[in-house]
Amino acid sequence: MSESLPTRAPAPALRAPLVVALPGDEAAADEIARLLGTARSPMETRRFPDGERYLRLPAEVDGRDAVIVGSPRPPDEGTLTLCFLADLLRDLGAPRVIAAMPYLPYMRQDIRFHPGEAVTSVSYARLLSRAIDGLVTVDPHLHRHRSLDEIYRVPSTVVPAAPAVARWIARHVPRPLIVGPDEESAQWAADVAGRLDAPVLVCTKLRSGDRDVRVSLPDPAAWRDRTPVIVDDILSSGRTLAVAVRALREAGLPGAWCVAVHGVFADDAGPLLAKEGAARVATCNTLPGTAADIDVRPDLALAVRAMLSHTT
Ligand code: R5P
Repeated sequence: MSESLPTRAPAPALRAPLVVALPGDEAAADEIARLLGTARSPMETRRFPDGERYLRLPAEVDGRDAVIVGSPRPPDEGTLTLCFLADLLRDLGAPRVIAAMPYLPYMRQDIRFHPGEAVTSVSYARLLSRAIDGLVTVDPHLHRHRSLDEIYRVPSTVVPAAPAVARWIARHVPRPLIVGPDEESAQWAADVAGRLDAPVLVCTKLRSGDRDVRVSLPDPAAWRDRTPVIVDDILSSGRTLAVAVRALREAGLPGAWCVAVHGVFADDAGPLLAKEGAARVATCNTLPGTAADIDVRPDLALAVRAMLSHTT
């Protein structure tokens, strides 16, 4: 008697994607590749004498999905490289190109504040939506856009940093008082405080220029026995956190800890925070840097894996 043949072939296992790094993000890509059960594919890149970029991927793409890992830096130059790389991967036969961008730039100009201004969050989303098939990122600056779906035309996943941030604060700071430096930070501050069962205060911010901000603080008298931890999504010029550190000090609280999801560290942000008396500055590792102590890569890798497992 002949053996009956299986009526249905077993579902093919998900093939490991091809993981490549934006220049400068090799360490993050190595880690994401490892968490996805593969290794980063090397890329050859250099500049031509006139400054234009050369790219070469020696790996066999061979119908594998591709994941580009990296936060474009500087944003304009890094984004052009990302677009070239996505185009190259498609050209070599990748059916889908997913961008795992821990820090998504160009989210803060989300409205025309003054006549004639470019709403670059929308323009950037249009540009990127033409280049990639999916986006995974960590806490983008969603304020006037309530979700990435409002502006991106490709599927996107937002990885929340609050669980990792709260775990880190619980390990390092006794009796924290969570402080949001402005109304826009209230969503992150409240989420982190809730996970820690800690009190939360939210300041009011008045910004009169890129580097000119003032904050006013609700009365912290009831919390003088606590350690203030200022939580914000982005540390750019450091002005927002610096004025909040000063306001807390002037209100009689001890030196504040500063925790940001994305540590851009523009200008003299680090020295400025030290000068104002910040006890410690820590950020998630969405951008490289010496303060990037809070690990969100496992959560990012899980989200990439989930996106890859969706067939289109
Ligand atoms: C703004 O709304 C953001 O949430 C941050 O507060 C801001 O980007 C921080 O910028 P800076 O460090 O330049 O004050």
